[in-house]
Amino acid sequence: MKQPSTEWREQVAPDEAAHLVRVAKVIGDLQRTRSKKFGPGRALHRKQLLAATGTLEVFAGLPDHARHGLFATPGRHRALVRLSNGGPDVQGDRVPDIRGFALKILDISGESAFGGTTDHQDFLMINQDRTPGANSREFIDFMEAATPGPLSGLLHLFKAHGLGGGLSRLKDLFSMLSKKFDGFAAERFNTVAPICCGPYAVRVRLAPAGNPPPSGRSKDIVADMRERLAVGSLAYDLELQFFVDEATTPIEDASVAWPEAETPIVTVGRLVLPQQGVDAVAAEAEAARFDPWSGLLAHRPLGEVMRARKVAYFESQKGRNAA
Ligand code: HEM
Repeated sequence: MKQPSTEWREQVAPDEAAHLVRVAKVIGDLQRTRSKKFGPGRALHRKQLLAATGTLEVFAGLPDHARHGLFATPGRHRALVRLSNGGPDVQGDRVPDIRGFALKILDISGESAFGGTTDHQDFLMINQDRTPGANSREFIDFMEAATPGPLSGLLHLFKAHGLGGGLSRLKDLFSMLSKKFDGFAAERFNTVAPICCGPYAVRVRLAPAGNPPPSGRSKDIVADMRERLAVGSLAYDLELQFFVDEATTPIEDASVAWPEAETPIVTVGRLVLPQQGVDAVAAEAEAARFDPWSGLLAHRPLGEVMRARKVAYFESQKGRNAA
């Protein structure tokens, strides 16, 4: 097991500013096209599946490397959760997709990663431990090509990368999207792109803690959560997975899963979603801004994917009157 390290570095490509302008345009165009069809909504993760409230307990006695920002002080915080399908379209929940777990931790105060101060910390997680591409460039090329519809996105993979490259990308994408998903109570979620934890760098993860196994109904991922929360609570461990060195835990390559065996992982708290009727906060979550940059400076997002997301989420928030 390697040790947590503060020796992480970010790298900015000379043409990044031009790329970010393109990110905003592609995300804006994608959102406008889909909003014409489905009504106002997010550019990605458009379909909200369920929203819930909860409580995060930050544990006492954490090791020094974890005790920064939100995790510096033990205590309880209110939380808002938005669960979603990842795509730009509103489609059936059995269609292969990325699943999103957006978590907003409230009742904090400190310097914000945006500048000024903040009273919350957002963590945006998916049911994957890596992205299909190393940085946002291939993703944005794909999204631009897929704006008229998913088929043109798939054709683009072959046009841009040839038969062999297109096939291997298609295979990789399909294996991620069709990964077995046992429901939001049973699966693990990961920020994939890193953030700071004070002077350290981490990926943040959620792991179910003692939730009952999926029921017979678990194929309907919304009914599964509704039924569980109607009768009881759900718990998840919040974990930090630490950067150790650039080769093992790259900052600038989100397509690499950080290996469990070589990375220190600290459980820093427990998220509990108590028994509740989930419709109560559905409208609040749909209108809310969940944004990887919306949080403490001590948890500033790191790397190219995160810098691209700063532009992308702002564009999408503007397009749905949430900016
Ligand atoms: C590490 C990889 C990523 C993760 C873990 C992630 C996760 C998420 C999640 C969970 C949501 C839903 C937020 C909500 O429920 O409000 C979301 C929304 C979104 N994501 Fe990402 N995402 C990633 C990468 C990207 C990239 C590379 C882009 C584009 C450059 C992007 C663009 C967006 C946009 C535009 C939204 C909608 C924002 C809004 O209007 O609220 N994401 N993402």
